[in-house]
Amino acid sequence: MKTECLQADSRTLARAAALLRAGEVVAFPTETVYGLGACAGQAEAVARIFAAKNRPADNPLIVHVAHMEQASGLAEDWTRLADKLARAFWPGPLSLIVQAADTIPSIVTAGLDSVAIRMPSHPTALELIRLAGPLAAPSANTSGRPSPVQAAHVMEDMRGKIPLVIDGGACEVGVESTVVDVRKDVPIILRPGDITPEQIRAVCGACEVARGVFEPVAGKAASPGMLHRHYAPHGQATLVEESARMVDTICDLYDQAAQAGLRTVILSSRQHAQAYGVRRQIICDAQGDMNHGLFTALREADAQGYERILLEGRQRSGKGMAYMNRALRAAGFHTAQ
Ligand code: TXA
Ligand code: MG
Repeated sequence: MKTECLQADSRTLARAAALLRAGEVVAFPTETVYGLGACAGQAEAVARIFAAKNRPADNPLIVHVAHMEQASGLAEDWTRLADKLARAFWPGPLSLIVQAADTIPSIVTAGLDSVAIRMPSHPTALELIRLAGPLAAPSANTSGRPSPVQAAHVMEDMRGKIPLVIDGGACEVGVESTVVDVRKDVPIILRPGDITPEQIRAVCGACEVARGVFEPVAGKAASPGMLHRHYAPHGQATLVEESARMVDTICDLYDQAAQAGLRTVILSSRQHAQAYGVRRQIICDAQGDMNHGLFTALREADAQGYERILLEGRQRSGKGMAYMNRALRAAGFHTAQ
């Protein structure tokens, strides 16, 4: 199949909506990462998403909506907490887990009785949903690869597999949405993102963080996504925990790997770039913050064939939570002090 990559204008959007209604899969920009969308009501179209990504069938998708009524219509029980958080943070990088309406095809929810719903803020995503209806969409990467934050990343993974990628430029946030279970009285974060626990607490007084956000889980997980391999670069990655010794530890690990003849790189922050001297670096926060640059840096490290990748740690709070959750998974939970 030929994959077109077209600028996000009204003609492209009309074309994309027609493809979606006809049961095809289209990649589109959101403010977090690019999504791989299909009409949420069409089970066969949704099956094409799983095939294109090589995604395990037990990992459910997020349904993207353009207005509140669409969201509450997809829920069997649109809780007070769901309503409160949706009103505070939508449109935006927050996915709400609620009890699923029985009209949602089970392939979308991977057979769970809950569903994740999000209203993205990206104008292109919103317009596409207005034209085509609610879209089931995971991140538009091959399963296990870093999420795409530019149309070129989507093309790397999806060329030949889908008919159309809508190019909306670089994603503003750069990591996927915060996923929050809002079925009970206290919200529980299943995946940290740009919306922090502090922000959620400010709206509803409390917020818990699920086990599995910072450590590997086996067996039954609060979110199936916790069980799967994620964001893995081809090279062997190690995350060095933040401390006063972090830069020295990274330099030592780099020198050992380089002496062993391994092509080695540090995914660094501007703050420490000078301290690493002549060692090879890809600067993660070139466009502002580490969250924004992490996935691009991981893809860049692969493109340049690095065999050993050293990641800087951050504090596991605020926006650092999302970074650490992704960086730990990229390193396969391989850490150093
Ligand atoms: O920002 C985002 O969330 C992006 C853009 C495209 O919206 N989407 C995204 O989708 O990251 P995906 O499929 O790559 O990640 C969705 C995560 C997975 O870890 C999945 O296991 C979890 O949400 N999830 C989805 N439905 C769930 C449910 N009913 N219960 C628990 N976890 C769920
Ligand atoms: Mg994903």
